[in-house]
Amino acid sequence: MQIGIIGAGFIARAVAQLAIAAGHQAMLSNSRGPRTMSSVLSGIPGSQVGTVEDAAQFGEMVLVAIPLEHYRSVPAQWLEGKTVLDANNYYPERDGHIEALDRFETTTSRLLAEHLPHSSVVKVFNAILAQDLIQDARPKAAPDRRALPVAADDPVAKARVITLLDEIGFDGVDGGNLDESWRFERAKPAYCIPLDKEGLKAALAAAQRQVELPEGSWRRRTH
Ligand SMILES: NC(=O)c1ccc[n+]([C@@H]2O[C@H](COP(=O)([O-])OP(=O)(O)OC[C@H]3O[C@@H](n4cnc5c(N)ncnc54)[C@H](OP(=O)(O)O)[C@@H]3O)[C@@H](O)[C@H]2O)c1
Repeated sequence: MQIGIIGAGFIARAVAQLAIAAGHQAMLSNSRGPRTMSSVLSGIPGSQVGTVEDAAQFGEMVLVAIPLEHYRSVPAQWLEGKTVLDANNYYPERDGHIEALDRFETTTSRLLAEHLPHSSVVKVFNAILAQDLIQDARPKAAPDRRALPVAADDPVAKARVITLLDEIGFDGVDGGNLDESWRFERAKPAYCIPLDKEGLKAALAAAQRQVELPEGSWRRRTH
């Protein structure tokens, strides 16, 4: 499969590396253009780089892995009909305050889906550190295989992403639709904590909409 990636930072590179290792093709992009991405090409053998539009058109699936504050720059017209993987998290000190998120009225992936009304948005890869993606990937049926939550409105797109997760080394756990994806957003019990399938299901069930865990339990491990 051809995977386009909007973003070329920590999470984009980790997903690209795992996807290429699993036999897929990956094209990364950033806001400054392909000439600024020589370290991507040397750091991830087999990767390709392009403009954001190139990556959007290249991908059968397209991962969005940029600071949330820039989500409106994602080119909707090039993503029509595609599955779009949303790894973004909301950090108000980085992204600025987004009132609907501060009031727990929407989710980060719902915002992206509203910006991409003709794409199938799937929330995934937001609840694991980039470095852990590389370190924790395991073959199918490994006893210590980590599970990752996946949310989407479109069950077919969700199933395709769970298959991709399986190929790159993780079990997928159904985290509901995009309106329910708050269950694994920042500061919830499933956020960036290594868990197996059953542990992840329990953490998703334990999440409370307006309760954020104390920063000390996750802040030092994430950004
Ligand atoms: N790091 C993690 O462990 C981790 C884990 C899970 C989820 N996330 C989330 O994933 C997202 C990316 O995090 P990151 O840590 O990978 O960020 P990062 O290392 O800071 O990289 C951000 C990337 O996005 C690109 N970018 C910024 N604005 C863009 C735009 N408008 N169009 C295209 N590319 C743009 C940047 O390129 P330029 O420099 O050219 O702008 C850069 O390549 C964030 O929402 C973060 O919260 C991160």
